[in-house]
Amino acid sequence: MSENEKSIVILTGAGISQESGLDTFRDEGGIWSQVRIEDVATPDAFRRDPERVQAFYNARRSQLVRSNVTPNSAHRALASLEQKYPGDVYIVTQNIDNLHEAAGSRNLIHMHGELLKGRCLDCADIVEWSSDMGVGEACPSCASKNKLRPHVVWFGEMPLYMDEICRLLDECGLFISIGTSGNVYPAAGFVQHARNSGNSRTVELNMEPSEGATFFEEARYGPATGIVPAFVKEILA
Ligand code: APR
Repeated sequence: MSENEKSIVILTGAGISQESGLDTFRDEGGIWSQVRIEDVATPDAFRRDPERVQAFYNARRSQLVRSNVTPNSAHRALASLEQKYPGDVYIVTQNIDNLHEAAGSRNLIHMHGELLKGRCLDCADIVEWSSDMGVGEACPSCASKNKLRPHVVWFGEMPLYMDEICRLLDECGLFISIGTSGNVYPAAGFVQHARNSGNSRTVELNMEPSEGATFFEEARYGPATGIVPAFVKEILA
C-alpha cells in the first residue's frame, strides 16, 4: 500500500451538524447551558427521574425527525471522500444524530450511540426508535416494561466500539478531527493516540482552536460547510 493509500480516520463532533440546525453542547447558548448534565445525561439521572431524561431525548429526537434536519455540505463531502479515496475512510462520530448516514457515509462508528435507537435494560436488544419513548414503554423484543432507554452513552459510561477505534487509530495515515471542542475523553485523546502510533498526519478542522489544538500538526478554522469540502478537495487532488 503506498503512502497516500493509508487509511483516514475522521473524528466528528457537534460542530459538523451545527449548520444543519442542531445545537452544539458547549458554545454560547449550547445544550449544556440550557440543562445540567447531571439532570439528563447520567445513569443516575435516569434512575432518579426517567421522565425528565426521556423528555430531553424525546425533544431532540423529535427535532431530528420532524424539523427537516438534513445533512450539510460537510457531511456530504465526507461521504464523497469515502467513495473516491483509494484507501479506506472511517468516520468515528460522537454525534447521536443520523446525518452522516443520511449523507451516504457507510464506514461509520457511533461511539456515543444513536438517538434513533433504544436499548432494553432487560434483554439488551437494540431497537430502531423514531417516535417519543415513554417511561412505561414495553420493549418490542422481550415485552418488559419500564426497561427501555435511549441508546446513547451517558457521562460515566464507556463509549462504544473502543477496541475497533483503537485499531483504526493504530493503523491510519491521516487523522482529522472536525467540530469538536476536545473536552470529552476518550475522544479528545484520539489525536495523541494517532500521533503515538507514529505514522499519522493530524489535522484539526474547527470553528476555533479546540482544547487540544496544540496536539495537531495542522489546522483550518472556520465553519465546517466551508473548510471541510475544501480540505476533502485537497486530499483528493
Ligand atoms: N463549524 C465548525 N465547527 C463548529 C461549528 C461550525 N459551524 N459550530 C461550532 N463549532 C465547534 C465549536 O467551536 C466547538 O469547538 O464545534 C465544537 C463543538 O464542541 P462541543 O459543543 O463541546 O461538542 P462536542 O465536542 O461534540 O462534544 C463532545 O460532549 O456532552 C457530550 O456527548 C456529548 O458527544 C458530545 C461530547
